[in-house]
Amino acid sequence: MSGRMTPLGPLDIEGIDFAFDDQPDLHAVLARLRARKPYAIVPFAATRAVLLLTDELVRAAFRDETTFPAAPVYAMTTEPVFGKTVLSMSGSQHRASRALVSAPLRRGRVQAYVEPVIEPVVTELIDAFVSRGSADLVAEFTQRFSLLIISRLLGIPVDDETRIQHWAKAMIEYAFSPAAAIDSAQEFTEYVRPLLAERRREPGGDMISMLVTELGEDGEFLSDEEILTFLRMLFPLGADTTTYALGNVLSALLNHPEQLRLVQSDPQQYLQAAIWEGARWEPAVGLLPRACPAETTWHGIHIPPLTPMIFAINAAHRDPAIYPRPDEFDITRNLMPPLSFGQGPHSCIGNWLANTELLVALDLLITRLPDLALDPEHVDLSTITSQVGTTLRGPTALHVTFTPGPRQ
Ligand code: HEM
Repeated sequence: MSGRMTPLGPLDIEGIDFAFDDQPDLHAVLARLRARKPYAIVPFAATRAVLLLTDELVRAAFRDETTFPAAPVYAMTTEPVFGKTVLSMSGSQHRASRALVSAPLRRGRVQAYVEPVIEPVVTELIDAFVSRGSADLVAEFTQRFSLLIISRLLGIPVDDETRIQHWAKAMIEYAFSPAAAIDSAQEFTEYVRPLLAERRREPGGDMISMLVTELGEDGEFLSDEEILTFLRMLFPLGADTTTYALGNVLSALLNHPEQLRLVQSDPQQYLQAAIWEGARWEPAVGLLPRACPAETTWHGIHIPPLTPMIFAINAAHRDPAIYPRPDEFDITRNLMPPLSFGQGPHSCIGNWLANTELLVALDLLITRLPDLALDPEHVDLSTITSQVGTTLRGPTALHVTFTPGPRQ
């Protein structure tokens, strides 16, 4: 490269750091920026990032692994605690590893988890509060269901679930308490290592056994280290995301009671539509960080080397060029939002599991909790905020009331 590097353009907004600051009116901020141009230069962790704001740009960026590889960001944010996961791999290594770890998450396999694992976990959690007539659905349901489902899919003894939850929570907090996260990853690894050895000796029907027995295209099985890395990663990638996805759809429905009644009146027709619209209106992964390692001009944007990028899935999902009345939560759109699980080579391999968990959970919650409504004394707590940094978004609490019912 010759001559001096051209710097990134001037900031389009000041006073908000997109790496750290929760923004209560985030959607309005994103809409104002997008009305000016399809991207914005924004403050990001003491430097500047390019924020992509339209459906067209976010979609194209996800598909352009050469310009915006996933590896550099995940090497910093996940590798130290989880090891080298599929997210920080590329090329043929990524394809081979992805094919193997996807096996237990394929559509056909996931359907077989509903009766033995997903329904019992959801029923158990609802049973614990259904007779009370009130609950905080975040503390008592959304934060717990997906973690428990993953624990049970792995065949972890029920008595150890509290320890698993403790380690998972600490691992997820890596950016804020790195030492505690690394200690927890170590403890979790030492805990599951003997389980893994046991499944190698005697495979059963659980997910660890599936990973142990899955044969790759090259005739190789996954190594212990590859399986342990995948298991550590399941908690932030699988449980946290699904927790906030359910929180967001519940928050949207509870704040739009007429649409909640519509789903209750005909779950067959509206359940999936409500989950899709919840994921469009407030995707759990809202602002996904990436990087642009080499200098480029991409879609007319000049980007110097090592520039942080933000794929604003939540802005793309409200792009008025694609969605009429984009700020309205409207389950009758009946549209699958195309970006909530990413796109391209690193698109989510857990989408079937996540969607199935959400369908079962929402179905049982709305059918077992008649007259479900936000508790008027705590409505303010139901708003959606940034979680674990700014990438994820979800409600911190959802205090509800309902007609008490029997345990099942
Ligand atoms: C509603 C819940 C979920 C959401 C919103 C979600 C979202 C995403 C997104 C946006 C990506 C792309 C990341 C990127 O390009 O940097 C991704 C990748 C991934 N997700 Fe999910 N996810 C969810 C549930 C799950 C579950 C349940 C699992 C596993 C059990 C899972 C495992 C993964 C894996 C392994 C990848 C990386 C794939 C690769 O690098 O090839 N996710 N997810």
